[in-house]
Amino acid sequence: MTGPDRPASSNLDQPDASAVRHLRRDVVAMAPYTPGEQLGKAIKLNTNECPWPPSPAVLAVLGAIGADQLRLYPDPVSRELRRAAAAAYGVSPEQVLAGNGSDDCLTIIYRSFLAPGDRVACPWPTYGLYETLAAIQGVELVHVDYKLAERAWTLPSALARQNAKVVIIANPNNPSATIVPIAELRRLADQVDGVLVVDEAYIDFAEADGAKASMIPHLDQHPNLIVLRTFSKSYSLAGARLGLLFAAAPLVANLAKVKDSYNVNVISQALGTAALNDRDRHLDQVRTTVRERQRLERALAAFGWSWPESAGNFLLCEVGPRAGEIYRALKERGVLVRWWDKPLLSSKLRITVGRPEDDDRLVALIRELW
Ligand SMILES: Cc1ncc(COP(=O)(O)O)c(C=O)c1O
Repeated sequence: MTGPDRPASSNLDQPDASAVRHLRRDVVAMAPYTPGEQLGKAIKLNTNECPWPPSPAVLAVLGAIGADQLRLYPDPVSRELRRAAAAAYGVSPEQVLAGNGSDDCLTIIYRSFLAPGDRVACPWPTYGLYETLAAIQGVELVHVDYKLAERAWTLPSALARQNAKVVIIANPNNPSATIVPIAELRRLADQVDGVLVVDEAYIDFAEADGAKASMIPHLDQHPNLIVLRTFSKSYSLAGARLGLLFAAAPLVANLAKVKDSYNVNVISQALGTAALNDRDRHLDQVRTTVRERQRLERALAAFGWSWPESAGNFLLCEVGPRAGEIYRALKERGVLVRWWDKPLLSSKLRITVGRPEDDDRLVALIRELW
């Protein structure tokens, strides 16, 4: 077995195997990132993908990809995609970098800013990859716990004082789906002596009702601000692996030096451009998801569960000591949700909003099990 699904211990099973001893010791010692499970025909409510197909305009572009596009290397700097992103978000193309998923954009940031001895800080609990990338880069990750109130998770004020070169906030946060207001993020950008990365993977859901939640319009006031977006969630393109990074033009020019030469393939560039040009369909899909989330919330409330107010396409449900048992029972019955056996999270399940029929199946199973 190869790739990310390889068991966590495989490197360590044979510590004396000839080539393993040549690996960096911190790589051998590090825990791999654990991606959400993928099980044949299971209903997947565990990785916050959108349950709807991509826009018909995107699928038409996919069907029209030609032999020459595949034969030749793609545009190394994704010009057309960046132009479309610049037009959609009101910035210049020089302020946009495209990545092989926003995970690639995060890797580019770590490689560019962080050398051994440097620190990266984030509020906790949050997206686990921030920690994995710190281990790969050989830098220290400092967690500062969120202040947890029942329906809100607020930023710890100590976050700005961690002597970190890079501070990362997922906004809305994964796994809580909670959101930090723009004014607070702008204050933090002014306070940190380094860069503030705001990972807006789920921001489209927060803006579904017309609210202003994104930091992209504030880039010009904060030269140390980097904003990330992904096509994996609200655009239903997780399989295409496509993300965007927005920052001041001089930052983008330097970050581009450390990316892989052809980091975004020709198909993903074309699909992303088509998706950005189909704004109405996108907004429609986001609003449908939020309405379905509200329906799911009404159904789950019947079990006495609670969750922080969600600004995303998922809910972090407080289930109690039976959370792990419910996760396993749902999995046995073909429904995947996310559970972590970790401090602050082991009593909770993170549930992605699915199609109505999938959510109904989930609720029916919980009714049996609870
Ligand atoms: C906060 C956050 N950032 C980034 C990602 C990854 O996005 P991508 O698929 O674009 O790499 C995820 C995926 O779950 C996420 O939750």
